[in-house]
Amino acid sequence: MLARVLNRLIDAQAVWADPLGGLLQRILAAIFRPIRPIKDFLNGKWLGHPVHAALTDLPIGILTLVLVLDLLGQTQAADVGLALGVVTMLAAMVAGYADYVDTFGLVRTRATVHAVLMVVGQVFLVVSLALRRDADDRFAPALLVWLGYGLITAGAYVGGEVVYALGNMVDRHAWRTKLAKWTPLDVADVPEGVPTRAKAGAQTLVLVRRGDVIHALHDTCAHAGGPLSKGTLVGDQIECPWHQSRFGLRDGHRTQGPTTYDQPRFEVRAAATGGWEARQA
Ligand code: FES
Repeated sequence: MLARVLNRLIDAQAVWADPLGGLLQRILAAIFRPIRPIKDFLNGKWLGHPVHAALTDLPIGILTLVLVLDLLGQTQAADVGLALGVVTMLAAMVAGYADYVDTFGLVRTRATVHAVLMVVGQVFLVVSLALRRDADDRFAPALLVWLGYGLITAGAYVGGEVVYALGNMVDRHAWRTKLAKWTPLDVADVPEGVPTRAKAGAQTLVLVRRGDVIHALHDTCAHAGGPLSKGTLVGDQIECPWHQSRFGLRDGHRTQGPTTYDQPRFEVRAAATGGWEARQA
């Protein structure tokens, strides 16, 4: 019930979040496009896990401690902690922007609300940090951290919805049952060098013939579900048409983000009864 009310409140922000999201995304895409390897790094391609999700725990933990230190009058420790909170918050924000570039629809709307809450929260923290330099009165700086912390907590809730309710940056194959047995493919012919969509039982694959070998990956991109069979071949990789993640045809390994996950790979062989059959590698 509470979640429904909160989600209604979040989604009501679409009036301003949608146009702002479109503008922000265009600006961020223009920044990240020429530095794709850095964006991949921020997405977490190297780690096999979204970097943003890992970094967000740091400022929240540190800021919780700052609240306590302020209450205890441990001013020096609180000031150092706040500086660290601001820096780690900034790092989490930069990684989040790299993920934000590839959002769309309701995910982008909620991610925009999330981002705005975090930016405003960060402003409160920075102002508090500046006031601490020579303020004898510690009330205003401490109050600003409480306010910033409240906004960041609200932002964290919205960010959680983006991941847990909408599945952003979640592996699209997390719950898929493995195709363990050889299963007939519903295609009679696989043309050379053309990504070809095929069904094997309930699974949809993309097939790419290279001479006598047929490479097969799951058709649904691990990043956000784009159809790889509508993608482009780039050497021994296939590029997703939605956000240009790339996967090796031989092993399904991610070679370009934003995906942080590999693509399920399948073996293909000629069936004794004619045609082709596949099973998960
Ligand atoms: S769906 Fe995003 S790269 Fe494939």
